[in-house]
Amino acid sequence: MKIVAGNWKMYKTIDEAQVFFREFAALALPLPQNVEVVIFPNYIALGAFAGTALNGVILGAQDVAADAEGAFTGEVSPAMIRSTGAKYVLIGHSERRHVFGESPDVVHRKLLNAMEGSLVPVLCVGETLAERTSGRATEVVRGQLDGALSGIAHLDRGHLMVAYEPVWAIGTGANAENDQIEEMHSLIRSHLRQLLGDGAGRGIPILYGGSVKPANFRSIVALPSVDGGLVGGASLVPASFTELVKIAAQC
Ligand code: 13P
Repeated sequence: MKIVAGNWKMYKTIDEAQVFFREFAALALPLPQNVEVVIFPNYIALGAFAGTALNGVILGAQDVAADAEGAFTGEVSPAMIRSTGAKYVLIGHSERRHVFGESPDVVHRKLLNAMEGSLVPVLCVGETLAERTSGRATEVVRGQLDGALSGIAHLDRGHLMVAYEPVWAIGTGANAENDQIEEMHSLIRSHLRQLLGDGAGRGIPILYGGSVKPANFRSIVALPSVDGGLVGGASLVPASFTELVKIAAQC
C-alpha cells in the first residue's frame, strides 16, 4: 500500500479547497484500492470539511498545539482536529522548524500531544543544504528522530509515519537523487527499529518529500524503501495530484 499525501501549506480558501475536491473527484475516482490518499489543508479549510465524505480521501492537519487545551491564543488542540474527522497531523515540518523556530523540545511535545489526542503524527525530518554539504546529514536526521521520539519505547502499528524531506529539496524543483533517498530511508528505518523495537520500527511508513511531481515520482515511489510521497506544490493542482495517485497505484 503506497501513500500519496498533499501538504497544502498556506494555500486555498474554503471555496478553493471545495473546487479542488470537486475537480479531483472527477479525475481520480474511484480511488485505487492500493493507495492511501491524504490531504493536509489549512485549519480553516479542514474545519469546513468536518463531517463531509470525501470519497475515501483522508484528512490531516499541518500542525497542532503542544498542550491538550488552555489559554494558548491562536493554537489548535488535538481534540479540535479530531472533531473535524482528521486522522493525521504533520509534526516538525521543516517550515515549522526553520521559519518559525520550533525547537526539538516543542516538536517532541507536539508529537506526544498528538498521540495522546488520538491523532497519527507524520514526523518530518530532513537536513539543510549546509548540513548535507558538511557531511552531517545522517547525524542531523538521526538526532531529529531521537529528539522527537525520546521516551517512546513502544508503539502500536499504524500510530506513526515519518516523512524524509531534505530542506534543500523543498519547493526548489531539485528533488533528492534516488540513491540519496534510499540511503536516508534505510538509515531512518534502522534507527526506528533501534528506538522502537523491531516490530514497530518495521511497520512505520516512510514517505519522501521535496519537489515531488509527476515527472519524477515514478522512479521515487518505486524505490523499495519509499512508502509514498509528501507533496507540496504538485498537490495543489487536481490534475497533477491525480497523476501522482495513478503513478503510485502502478507500483
Ligand atoms: P514541495 O513538494 O513543494 O517541494 O513541498 C514539499 C513539502 O514541504 C511537503 O511537506
